[in-house]
Amino acid sequence: MTYLGALQRSETALFSDATPDTEPAIGRRSLQAPGSIRFFDYRPTPADVRAEVLEGLRRPAKRLSPKLFYDQRGSQLFDAITELPEYYPTRTEIGILREYGSEMADLLGRDNVLIELGSGSSLKIQTLLAALQPSVYMPVDISKEHLLESAHALAERFPSLSIRAACADYSAPFRLPLEPDWSDLAAFFPGSSIGNFDPDDARLLLGRVADLLGTGGRLLVGVDLPKDPAILNAAYDDAQGVTAAFNLNLLTRINRELDADFDPAAFCHRAFFNTELSRVEMHLVSLVDQQVEVAGESFGFRVGETIHTENSYKYGIDTFHRLAADAGFVAEKVWTDRQGLFSVQCLRVVADAAARRPRA
Ligand code: AVI
Repeated sequence: MTYLGALQRSETALFSDATPDTEPAIGRRSLQAPGSIRFFDYRPTPADVRAEVLEGLRRPAKRLSPKLFYDQRGSQLFDAITELPEYYPTRTEIGILREYGSEMADLLGRDNVLIELGSGSSLKIQTLLAALQPSVYMPVDISKEHLLESAHALAERFPSLSIRAACADYSAPFRLPLEPDWSDLAAFFPGSSIGNFDPDDARLLLGRVADLLGTGGRLLVGVDLPKDPAILNAAYDDAQGVTAAFNLNLLTRINRELDADFDPAAFCHRAFFNTELSRVEMHLVSLVDQQVEVAGESFGFRVGETIHTENSYKYGIDTFHRLAADAGFVAEKVWTDRQGLFSVQCLRVVADAAARRPRA
């Protein structure tokens, strides 16, 4: 049985890398990794991907969720995006983490359980681990393969780190493999992934994180800032076409998983900054009038019609603090780069966070 096969068979699979027959997909070398990894699969790709895709395509203005980007290929393409000359967020945020890591650790606290939402390649946390020295690192990501590979790479680099990797979709209410006696929790949510949620959903997500952390718990969050639209447009429509491939990969994924017949060559990538809503929008534009079958249902596309695939909100610092306050946080500190492109912010959960939240 393969590692992934084993994971798919159990509802909440729990494996240590000391269990040889659950490990082959990652490679034998991980057996020697002295760091302890435990893996928990909450199966974030449920059967309702189909329902969600169909619902999105039935709308008058078609849309698909950006979380569908992150299959194995999509995660690789996203990693490639982070290295593009035009895509400033990743290297800018890493620069901020490197420069102010020890200040961040002073606020966040050391020796705690550190939960990273959307850990991807766990690249950024590596900048902070020496300063933070968590007792447990808990990466949470929707892409199982990516999570496993990153956890193993991290264990090799940080042999004494205790890792509890959770494959879960944090965009909906989620469970985590926490022990009842763990009270000292902190969270790390880098990359401005919070910007991929519409503001109401961002409030809900931050509220769930506040409840998870409890009063006094701290969240370190990366937030991309508004800037010259030319910089934003280039960052989301790069010259090499990697972001275009990332966007179009969504159609390939739907073809594979939902028995669809999208022709990716009959669509193109479009990204632009919507100044009024302070967000970059990504769309897939139909190049011709066409009919596409998805899971037995037929969808018509007119030439020029789009599928809206992603928003990436850019928040001014005060605007973001208002949003965080609605979720039960107070801002403690903001760090930015010298050009003011990106921010990393430390938020603390206020007492009675849930009670203070405005009613929907
Ligand atoms: C993951 N997320 C924060 C990225 C962003 O910048 O909104 C996703 C992305 N989409 C296109 N390029 C990168």
